[in-house]
Amino acid sequence: MVPAMTLDLILAITHHLLAFGLAVLLAAELAMLRPGMTATGLKRLGIVDAHYGLFAGLIIVVGVLRVIYGIKGPDAYVPNPWFWAKMAAFAGVGLLSTPPTIAIFRWRRRLKVEPGFCPFEEEVSRVRAFLFAELALFALIPVFAAVMARAAAF
Ligand code: HEM
Repeated sequence: MVPAMTLDLILAITHHLLAFGLAVLLAAELAMLRPGMTATGLKRLGIVDAHYGLFAGLIIVVGVLRVIYGIKGPDAYVPNPWFWAKMAAFAGVGLLSTPPTIAIFRWRRRLKVEPGFCPFEEEVSRVRAFLFAELALFALIPVFAAVMARAAAF
């Protein structure tokens, strides 16, 4: 049986690595998604976006495990409004990530039938706006997380 403190530490470390990984992947998407993207650039962007989705799924699993098996127990989170503020911000980032994922999928599919295809500049700017909105909302998550973790002390 893994001691409770060890399990809490393992979950916390995994959670932080996934959270920072998500931030890096989101920043990479913003750096890569530019007007005049090459076919290779578009393929790489699809791979980054897929990993972004994978990390988001994994952080939900690890997050739920932290709520249930973390040292503080579910009572520190379920009635905690800052936990729900964090979950709302996370859900908002997830919703805002949908149009970019759909656009990248469409562009890659078109690239398969039209090798020289390059997305239109207006469409690239529109999708970049979603990524900027994601980044702004994402920044709230660690803020809410820090308040959530200390809410019992206030
Ligand atoms: C992008 C997504 C996420 C980010 C950036 C994030 C970030 C963080 C950070 C920075 C902390 C440490 C807070 C502190 O001790 O000051 C934390 C703790 C925690 N997070 Fe997340 N988190 C994310 C998603 C989630 C999800 C989806 C869940 C639950 C379903 C979750 C549950 C928790 C729990 C239970 C803690 C422990 C708080 C405590 O020590 O009391 N997180 N998170």
